[in-house]
Amino acid sequence: MPMLEVKNLSVDFIVEGKHLPAVTDATFSVEKGEILALVGESGCGKSVSCMALARLVPEPPGVYSSGSIKFKHADREYDVLGLDKKSLREFRRHRISYIFQEPSASLNPVFRVGDQIAESIFLRGDVDNESKVRDEIISVLKQVGIPEPEQKMMSYPHELSGGMQQRIMIAMALASKPDLLVADEPTTALDVTIQAQILELLREIRNRTHMSIILVTHNLGIVADMADRVVVMYAGHVVETAAAKTILKEPMHPYTRALISAVPKLTHQKEKLATIPGSVPSPASYPKGCRFFGRCLLAENITAPKQELCISTVPAIEEKRKGHFCRCHYSK
Ligand SMILES: Nc1ncnc2c1ncn2[C@@H]1O[C@H](COP(=O)(O)OP(=O)(O)O)[C@@H](O)[C@H]1O
Ligand code: SF4
Ligand SMILES: [Mg+2]
Repeated sequence: MPMLEVKNLSVDFIVEGKHLPAVTDATFSVEKGEILALVGESGCGKSVSCMALARLVPEPPGVYSSGSIKFKHADREYDVLGLDKKSLREFRRHRISYIFQEPSASLNPVFRVGDQIAESIFLRGDVDNESKVRDEIISVLKQVGIPEPEQKMMSYPHELSGGMQQRIMIAMALASKPDLLVADEPTTALDVTIQAQILELLREIRNRTHMSIILVTHNLGIVADMADRVVVMYAGHVVETAAAKTILKEPMHPYTRALISAVPKLTHQKEKLATIPGSVPSPASYPKGCRFFGRCLLAENITAPKQELCISTVPAIEEKRKGHFCRCHYSK
């Protein structure tokens, strides 16, 4: 079994009595030491999928309506959606850490950053000696490339730049020594140079510690540089999964193809931002059949009787080639 195995997961939100399907029938896995990229336009269910991994989608309004999330550590297996409160707390403390786009979502403005890292170390429950904690704070700050760690640990978040705050968040995440780091668009708010440094840091951490990473991004350049495997989400569905190289070279699903051909190209020295025509439907109005119908170039070019299947029936996700899964009636 892989380290993390998500099977047929559905997460709904109940808003004003209506069930809104944020994630539907999602299946994916993460191996130890692997970097898995999660891609798709805004609103496709990437963040909800990530939060669900530690059962962090608030209930209500969220409901885990079907599926399972299994996590393996040494000889222990966690069935995340079935854990009692105590085991869930233990799972969140030890197995999984999150970093988000905005450091302010995780950093508390009124505490010194060193104290916030200390909290992550204490929560682990295996260090109680103050000088050991201090040594570990300094070590983890060094690992994330923060200069003068002895001084920086005394700073408050607002005294640090955005890039440094993001490094502190990564330090906090590392301090809890998780098996899986979930990085939800960790560099979207940063400028390009700092972005590259933070991504390089994540890659270096993976290489050194064999931590697994789920990296949410809508930047396919980042996917090419960082990811081992890719999960593409569209309107709450996983529509394609394969090795990163395969997805980038031989995308199978019409949505993935559209995403790749929408990558900004340099034309006449001006960056032209191509986008996919149309927009992602909202969960309140998902169509009965394939959720990509209406924006799909493949469907546009098939006969009307064949289109009927796209309109009437949600395609199942199938392994079309070894290790390459795709949710489409017609793509091969
Ligand atoms: N707390 C919530 N209440 C109701 N709907 C939500 C909530 N959080 C997310 N959603 C909906 O779930 C869907 C997936 O959201 P999300 O996972 O954040 O997308 P992504 O991260 O891919 O941009 C969206 O339609 C979003 O509006
Ligand atoms: S099932 Fe039909 S609409 Fe959906 S992606 Fe395939 S061809 Fe396009
Ligand atoms: Mg998101």
